[in-house]
Parts: sequence; structure tokens; C-alpha cells
Amino acid sequence: MIAEPPVSYKGTAMFSHLPHSYTAIVTGAGGGIGHAIVHALLKSSRLGRLIAISRDKSLNFDDARVTTLSLDLTQEGDRHRLKQSLGDQSVHLLFNAIGTLHDEQLSIWPEKHLEQLSADALAHLMHVNASTPILLIAALTASLQGKHPVIVASLSARVGSINDNGFGGWYSYRASKAAHNMLMKTAAIELARLNKRSIVLCLHPGTADTPLSQPFQARVPQGKLFSPAFVAQCLVDVIAKRTPEDTGSFWDWSGKPIEW
Ligand SMILES: NC(=O)c1ccc[n+]([C@@H]2O[C@H](COP(=O)([O-])OP(=O)(O)OC[C@H]3O[C@@H](n4cnc5c(N)ncnc54)[C@H](OP(=O)(O)O)[C@@H]3O)[C@@H](O)[C@H]2O)c1
Repeated sequence: MIAEPPVSYKGTAMFSHLPHSYTAIVTGAGGGIGHAIVHALLKSSRLGRLIAISRDKSLNFDDARVTTLSLDLTQEGDRHRLKQSLGDQSVHLLFNAIGTLHDEQLSIWPEKHLEQLSADALAHLMHVNASTPILLIAALTASLQGKHPVIVASLSARVGSINDNGFGGWYSYRASKAAHNMLMKTAAIELARLNKRSIVLCLHPGTADTPLSQPFQARVPQGKLFSPAFVAQCLVDVIAKRTPEDTGSFWDWSGKPIEW
């Protein structure tokens, strides 16, 4: 059964750190969690403008505050197009929901054993899960630096925690998320110099009912498979509680910090 928000649950969808009419970018907006994050952000009148980015050309959120851009941000040319379209306009919230675990077309599946490792699969997951988010931040530096408040939130996964690795397996995914976390932590340090009001966060969404988790849902404990809408509300609340002192940290959907 998929866990939905309890009736009494009130997602705040409010970022007191960000100004009224703030500008947000959501990447992976065609994915399960990215799509739900867009809807969660749209619940707040504080949002001014949202740029939803996806490879999906048909994406439409039916809200005048949303601009959809059809881009593949794993590609340098499309990151450059985004950078050109923004110029040095301030971005207040960058939520990255791009990520991959398995890819049937590329015959990529999480490894259980060493002999299943492939250089191509390892490189692909590193590219999508680790290189793409940091190269995106690099492309948007002009919009993130300055004196305005900024939150950069990027979806990681608990299995990327080296301390938490008690089961092994999933080499490429674990390694790509650990690399993601190191890159975000490092960016947090530089962005703090470029913008004292910046907050960079790695987030674990729990297990959400999306195409990414679909093949692995049978082994999820009862009550621990969440709807994307529930996860999005929880993550928005987790982000809303953070301050610049929290920059460069890793949190789960319930608001608990995760060890690196
Ligand atoms: N679902 C879970 O249980 C779970 C658990 C832990 C962590 N996460 C993390 O949460 C993030 C979002 O996952 P999700 O569950 O929402 O998965 P999803 O529904 O599969 O969405 C992921 C999105 O990432 C983009 N993407 C994936 N592969 C790509 C590629 N090769 N090239 C370009 N873009 C690509 C796509 O965005 P567009 O379609 O918009 O182009 C895709 O829709 C991922 O980083 C994942 O690792 C998820």
C-alpha cells in the first residue's frame, strides 16, 4: 500500500528564507518526484516564477507562473542554453530531481556482485547522478551568487551514505550518490563565499512510488512506500526549516540528518 499524507498533515510549502515572488527552477520535472515538487511549490502564493525543465516536450502544468523548458541537462549544450536564457537573473530555489538507477535501453541494472560491474554503466550513473547536478550548478553560478537568498536542493539517496552501507551491492548507484554528495558539499563551501545567504542540501526522499523504484517496491516494508506527493510535501518542509548554517548537509524526508 502506498502511504499518502495523513489528513491532518499540512505541508507548509513556505520558505521564509526566500523572498515573496521568488524564482524557482525544478529539473527532472517530468520524473515522479520532480513533477510532484512542482505541484507542491505551486501551492504557495509566495512563488513568483517556476522554470520546470524536462526532456519531455509535452510537459504542461497549467499555471501561468510556470515556464516549461524542454532540455536534457545531462548535455553540455542544453546546460549552456539554460545559462544563456537566464543571463544573470537571480534564482532563489534550484531543486534538482534528475537521477537514474536502472535503464533498460542501456541494459543497466543495479549490481549485486562484483562480476556484474561494467565501466559503461558506472560511467553512465556517475554522469547522470553526480556530474550533471554539479555541472548544472556551475552553469548557473551567475544566478546563484550575490546577496539574494538561495536554496540549492539536490536529490541524493541514503544508499549513497558510506557510513550507512551495511548491505553492499548497487555499486554504481551508491558510488554515484556518494560522489554527488561530495560535489554538493564542496559547492556549498564555494557558494557560501559567493553568496552568504546560500543553502546547499542533499536530500533522501525515502522510497517513492516512481518508475525509478518500481522494480524494487515488493521488498519495501509496509507503510514505507510513499506517494510522490507525500514525499514532495515532506521535502519542502525539510528544506523550509534550513538556514545558511545548515549548508552542505544531508537530510532525509522526515527531517533527520544523514551521516555522510
Ligand atoms: N523514487 C525513490 O524511491 C528514490 C529513492 C531515493 C532517491 N531517489 C532519487 O530521487 C531522484 C528522482 O527520482 P524519481 O524517483 O523521481 O525517478 P524518475 O521518476 O525516474 O525521475 C527521474 C528523472 O530524472 C531524469 N533522468 C533520468 N535519467 C536521465 C537521463 N539518462 N538523462 C536525462 N535525464 C534523466 C528524467 O527527467 P525528465 O523526464 O524530466 O527529463 C527522469 O524523469 C533521483 O535522483 C533518485 O536517485 C529516488
